[in-house]
Amino acid sequence: MTEKDFIPVAYTNDKATGVVSYKSPSNIALVKYWGKKDHQIPANPSISFTLDHCATTTEVAYTKLEQAASDFSFDLFFEGKSKEDFKPKIKTFLNRIEGYLPFLKSYHFIIRTSNSFPHSSGIASSASGMSALALCLMELERELNPGMTAEYFNKKASFLARLGSGSACRSIEGDIIQWGSHEETQGSSDLYGIKYPYKVHEVFKDFQDTILLVDKGQKQVSSSVGHNLMHEHPFASQRFAQAHENLFKLQSVFEEGNLSEFIKIVESEALTLHAMMMTSMPYFILMKPNTLEIINKIWAFREASNTHICFTLDAGANVHVLYPANEKDLVIQFIKDELVAYCENGQYICDKIGYGARKL
Ligand code: DP6
Repeated sequence: MTEKDFIPVAYTNDKATGVVSYKSPSNIALVKYWGKKDHQIPANPSISFTLDHCATTTEVAYTKLEQAASDFSFDLFFEGKSKEDFKPKIKTFLNRIEGYLPFLKSYHFIIRTSNSFPHSSGIASSASGMSALALCLMELERELNPGMTAEYFNKKASFLARLGSGSACRSIEGDIIQWGSHEETQGSSDLYGIKYPYKVHEVFKDFQDTILLVDKGQKQVSSSVGHNLMHEHPFASQRFAQAHENLFKLQSVFEEGNLSEFIKIVESEALTLHAMMMTSMPYFILMKPNTLEIINKIWAFREASNTHICFTLDAGANVHVLYPANEKDLVIQFIKDELVAYCENGQYICDKIGYGARKL
């Protein structure tokens, strides 16, 4: 499919007012998206586990205007309070998607949104937030065009979410989503995420992710700035090639349930992401001393317990602890005994692999 396939032809229905609502999850990348061209065309393909608990709930109430306005008309409430400072980001998003949703200036929207996780937790809300909004707007398009297939709905929701934030396109469906053209993955596309199309071993079906909140402060570098640092990066081409290789290696890992290979790929991806930040110009260290303490404790515990616990990181100091469900009791006890001490205010979030956004 190309961009043109997402430009609608004339709508068959009219809709004066209504309310739509979606709960959309966050996701955690195993092979990382880091580096992009304009409009979130990724420099390399990525793959993620959709999460279950960390999510954004968004409600969009719409009222058709007497005549189309010259600009977007919307009010925005975050956790019940009017949020003027979030509006420019939403306006940029609406501008980018207007060509694909030509009705946007014909309505007034009241957008109410909230997160299941604390706002200042260091957990990025752009993936769940942009996907939830894209889904609500797609739901309105489906009301204008009821013949739309579920497949087209999901693809276009992912395509629109990507125009808001790259990783958001991996937050429409579950449980494993791949995004970005990859020669060895049939149906993969730079334009939207697809459900991972090959065999996945049972062990990955209920994988756990406990998020240790090491540093809840503001991000030191926005992801857009971070992605741009890959443009002049001395190791960029090797890094992009490595992501392709890691995705290919994951195919047999997923099929066979090979946890020791899974751990190698996932931890190496996390450290490579941070290595890219440390070796860009300007350079950043986004890990904190406690991030390293946790990583060392995880390695020691894995060795001693023969479990399959591993970690991954986002562009920040928090640590995602990944492990199979049958090791949950042991790992949670270990987290309580040895890792909570490194979390800000002892805070962590127990999450697991999830099955995608839900219409409310
Ligand atoms: C490190 O999707 O937040 O989490 O496209 O600029 O909105 P934009 O960036 P964003 O980048 C996420 C980067 C990452 C890795 C990943 O999720 O793949």
